[in-house]
Amino acid sequence: MKEAEYLEHIWQDLEKGISKKGHPFKLATLATIVNANELKQRTLVLRAITNQKTLIFYTDFRSNKVSQVLRNSAASLLFYNDEQKLQISLKGKVTIHTKGDLWKEHLSKISKDSEDDYNTLHAPGTTIEEKEELERVSNLNFCLLEFKIFTIDYLQLHKDKDHQRLIFNKTANVWKGDFVVP
Ligand SMILES: Cc1cc2nc3c(=O)[nH]c(=O)nc-3n(C[C@H](O)[C@H](O)[C@H](O)COP(=O)(O)O)c2cc1C
Repeated sequence: MKEAEYLEHIWQDLEKGISKKGHPFKLATLATIVNANELKQRTLVLRAITNQKTLIFYTDFRSNKVSQVLRNSAASLLFYNDEQKLQISLKGKVTIHTKGDLWKEHLSKISKDSEDDYNTLHAPGTTIEEKEELERVSNLNFCLLEFKIFTIDYLQLHKDKDHQRLIFNKTANVWKGDFVVP
Protein backbone atom coordinates (compact mmCIF):
# COMPACT_ATOMS: atom_id res chain seq x y z
CA MET A 1 0.00 0.00 0.00
CA LYS A 2 1.25 3.52 -0.86
CA GLU A 3 1.69 6.31 1.72
CA ALA A 4 -1.34 8.20 0.38
CA GLU A 5 -3.53 5.13 0.88
CA TYR A 6 -2.44 4.87 4.51
CA LEU A 7 -3.36 8.51 4.99
CA GLU A 8 -6.79 7.87 3.47
CA HIS A 9 -7.26 4.97 5.90
CA ILE A 10 -6.33 7.23 8.81
CA TRP A 11 -9.04 9.77 7.89
CA GLN A 12 -11.57 6.96 7.41
CA ASP A 13 -10.72 5.42 10.78
CA LEU A 14 -11.01 8.75 12.57
CA GLU A 15 -14.41 9.30 10.88
CA LYS A 16 -15.53 5.93 12.24
CA GLY A 17 -14.82 7.24 15.74
CA ILE A 18 -17.64 9.72 15.17
CA SER A 19 -20.07 7.70 13.07
CA LYS A 20 -19.73 4.12 14.39
CA LYS A 21 -21.23 3.40 17.82
CA GLY A 22 -18.65 2.03 20.24
CA HIS A 23 -15.68 2.58 17.92
CA PRO A 24 -12.47 3.03 19.96
CA PHE A 25 -11.58 6.24 18.13
CA LYS A 26 -14.62 7.91 19.69
CA LEU A 27 -12.24 8.69 22.56
CA ALA A 28 -8.88 10.40 22.36
CA THR A 29 -6.27 11.30 24.94
CA LEU A 30 -5.35 14.97 24.70
CA ALA A 31 -2.05 16.08 26.22
CA THR A 32 -1.43 19.77 26.86
CA ILE A 33 1.39 21.76 28.42
CA VAL A 34 0.84 23.05 31.96
CA ASN A 35 4.29 24.59 32.37
CA ALA A 36 7.91 23.88 31.45
CA ASN A 37 7.95 20.82 33.74
CA GLU A 38 4.43 19.50 33.54
CA LEU A 39 2.05 17.97 31.01
CA LYS A 40 -1.61 17.03 31.53
CA GLN A 41 -3.54 14.29 29.73
CA ARG A 42 -7.26 13.62 29.68
CA THR A 43 -9.89 11.70 27.71
CA LEU A 44 -12.14 13.58 25.29
CA VAL A 45 -14.91 12.56 22.90
CA LEU A 46 -14.10 13.23 19.25
CA ARG A 47 -17.09 15.18 17.92
CA ALA A 48 -16.30 16.08 14.32
CA ILE A 49 -13.71 16.29 11.56
CA THR A 50 -13.87 19.44 9.46
CA ASN A 51 -13.30 19.66 5.71
CA GLN A 52 -9.79 20.94 6.51
CA LYS A 53 -9.22 17.73 8.54
CA THR A 54 -9.09 19.51 11.86
CA LEU A 55 -10.55 17.62 14.83
CA ILE A 56 -13.32 19.09 16.97
CA PHE A 57 -13.87 18.47 20.70
CA TYR A 58 -16.29 20.08 23.16
CA THR A 59 -15.44 21.38 26.61
CA ASP A 60 -16.26 23.91 29.33
CA PHE A 61 -14.52 27.18 28.62
CA ARG A 62 -13.43 27.41 32.28
CA SER A 63 -11.65 24.03 32.34
CA ASN A 64 -7.91 23.84 32.89
CA LYS A 65 -7.19 22.50 29.43
CA VAL A 66 -8.52 25.74 27.95
CA SER A 67 -6.21 27.96 29.99
CA GLN A 68 -3.35 25.60 29.17
CA VAL A 69 -3.85 25.84 25.40
CA LEU A 70 -4.43 29.58 25.59
CA ARG A 71 -0.97 29.85 27.18
CA ASN A 72 0.61 27.31 24.84
CA SER A 73 -1.38 25.88 21.93
CA ALA A 74 1.00 22.95 21.29
CA ALA A 75 -0.72 19.64 22.06
CA SER A 76 -0.81 15.98 21.17
CA LEU A 77 -3.65 13.51 20.69
CA LEU A 78 -3.55 9.75 21.03
CA PHE A 79 -6.02 7.27 19.53
CA TYR A 80 -5.74 3.52 20.14
CA ASN A 81 -7.72 0.62 18.70
CA ASP A 82 -6.92 -2.43 20.82
CA GLU A 83 -8.75 -4.90 18.55
CA GLN A 84 -6.71 -3.83 15.52
CA LYS A 85 -3.55 -2.98 17.49
CA LEU A 86 -3.57 0.37 15.71
CA GLN A 87 -2.14 3.50 17.32
CA ILE A 88 -2.44 6.99 15.87
CA SER A 89 -0.50 9.73 17.61
CA LEU A 90 -0.97 13.31 16.43
CA LYS A 91 1.02 16.46 17.05
CA GLY A 92 -0.62 19.82 16.50
CA LYS A 93 -2.03 23.05 17.82
CA VAL A 94 -5.34 23.75 19.52
CA THR A 95 -7.56 26.75 18.84
CA ILE A 96 -10.45 27.67 21.17
CA HIS A 97 -13.81 28.76 19.71
CA THR A 98 -16.30 30.62 21.89
CA LYS A 99 -18.20 32.25 19.03
CA GLY A 100 -18.54 32.12 15.24
CA ASP A 101 -20.32 29.85 12.77
CA LEU A 102 -18.52 26.64 13.69
CA TRP A 103 -19.21 27.21 17.41
CA LYS A 104 -22.90 28.00 16.70
CA GLU A 105 -23.28 24.93 14.51
CA HIS A 106 -22.04 22.66 17.32
CA LEU A 107 -23.85 24.49 20.10
CA SER A 108 -27.11 23.77 18.26
CA LYS A 109 -26.32 20.03 18.43
CA ILE A 110 -26.03 19.93 22.24
CA SER A 111 -28.88 17.90 23.72
CA LYS A 112 -30.75 19.08 26.86
CA ASP A 113 -29.02 16.35 28.91
CA SER A 114 -25.57 17.33 27.69
CA GLU A 115 -26.12 20.97 28.67
CA ASP A 116 -25.22 19.90 32.23
CA ASP A 117 -21.63 19.42 31.05
CA TYR A 118 -21.32 23.18 30.56
CA ASN A 119 -23.65 24.89 33.04
CA THR A 120 -22.27 24.42 36.56
CA LEU A 121 -22.13 27.64 38.59
CA HIS A 122 -18.58 26.88 39.66
CA ALA A 123 -15.82 26.04 37.22
CA PRO A 124 -14.78 22.40 36.59
CA GLY A 125 -12.10 21.42 39.12
CA THR A 126 -13.53 23.61 41.92
CA THR A 127 -13.40 21.89 45.35
CA ILE A 128 -16.85 20.86 46.69
CA GLU A 129 -18.36 18.89 49.59
CA GLU A 130 -18.73 15.15 48.96
CA LYS A 131 -22.52 15.07 48.43
CA GLU A 132 -22.96 18.67 47.35
CA GLU A 133 -25.71 19.25 44.80
CA LEU A 134 -24.20 21.18 41.91
CA GLU A 135 -25.65 24.61 41.32
CA ARG A 136 -26.44 25.28 37.70
CA VAL A 137 -26.86 28.42 35.66
CA SER A 138 -28.82 29.07 32.49
CA ASN A 139 -25.90 30.07 30.27
CA LEU A 140 -23.56 27.45 28.85
CA ASN A 141 -19.78 27.79 29.14
CA PHE A 142 -19.55 25.77 25.97
CA CYS A 143 -16.52 25.99 23.73
CA LEU A 144 -14.89 24.05 20.92
CA LEU A 145 -11.34 22.83 20.86
CA GLU A 146 -10.12 22.65 17.27
CA PHE A 147 -7.03 20.49 16.87
CA LYS A 148 -4.93 21.31 13.78
CA ILE A 149 -2.74 18.36 12.89
CA PHE A 150 0.90 18.90 11.90
CA THR A 151 2.29 15.39 12.31
CA ILE A 152 0.74 11.92 12.24
CA ASP A 153 2.60 8.93 13.70
CA TYR A 154 0.80 5.78 12.50
CA LEU A 155 1.65 2.39 13.96
CA GLN A 156 -0.03 -0.85 12.98
CA LEU A 157 1.15 -3.94 14.83
CA HIS A 158 0.73 -7.32 13.13
CA LYS A 159 0.96 -10.60 15.00
CA ASP A 160 2.71 -12.77 12.45
CA LYS A 161 4.12 -10.27 9.99
CA ASP A 162 5.95 -7.00 9.88
CA HIS A 163 4.64 -4.05 11.83
CA GLN A 164 3.97 -0.88 9.80
CA ARG A 165 4.90 2.58 10.98
CA LEU A 166 4.61 5.77 8.95
CA ILE A 167 5.23 9.39 9.88
CA PHE A 168 3.30 12.06 7.99
CA ASN A 169 4.22 15.73 8.11
CA LYS A 170 2.19 18.58 6.70
CA THR A 171 4.05 21.40 5.02
CA ALA A 172 2.38 24.12 2.94
CA ASN A 173 -0.89 22.16 3.26
CA VAL A 174 0.57 19.05 1.64
CA TRP A 175 1.00 15.79 3.52
CA LYS A 176 4.19 13.81 3.01
CA GLY A 177 4.52 10.37 4.52
CA ASP A 178 7.59 8.23 5.19
CA PHE A 179 7.79 4.59 6.21
CA VAL A 180 9.97 4.31 9.32
CA VAL A 181 11.31 1.48 11.44
CA PRO A 182 8.49 0.50 13.81
C1 LIG B 1 -14.99 8.64 28.67
C2 LIG B 1 -14.72 10.09 28.98
C3 LIG B 1 -15.07 11.05 28.05
C4 LIG B 1 -14.86 12.42 28.32
N1 LIG B 1 -15.19 13.35 27.38
C5 LIG B 1 -14.96 14.67 27.64
C6 LIG B 1 -15.25 15.66 26.65
O1 LIG B 1 -15.68 15.36 25.54
N2 LIG B 1 -14.98 16.95 26.97
C7 LIG B 1 -14.48 17.31 28.20
O2 LIG B 1 -14.27 18.50 28.42
N3 LIG B 1 -14.19 16.40 29.14
C8 LIG B 1 -14.41 15.08 28.88
N4 LIG B 1 -14.10 14.14 29.83
C9 LIG B 1 -13.51 14.61 31.12
C10 LIG B 1 -12.02 14.92 30.90
O3 LIG B 1 -11.30 13.71 30.72
C11 LIG B 1 -11.41 15.74 32.04
O4 LIG B 1 -11.49 15.03 33.24
C12 LIG B 1 -12.10 17.09 32.22
O5 LIG B 1 -12.43 17.66 30.97
C13 LIG B 1 -11.20 18.05 33.00
O6 LIG B 1 -10.00 18.20 32.31
P1 LIG B 1 -8.98 19.42 32.55
O7 LIG B 1 -9.05 19.75 34.01
O8 LIG B 1 -7.65 18.87 32.16
O9 LIG B 1 -9.43 20.55 31.69
C14 LIG B 1 -14.28 12.80 29.56
C15 LIG B 1 -13.92 11.81 30.49
C16 LIG B 1 -14.14 10.49 30.19
C17 LIG B 1 -13.75 9.47 31.23
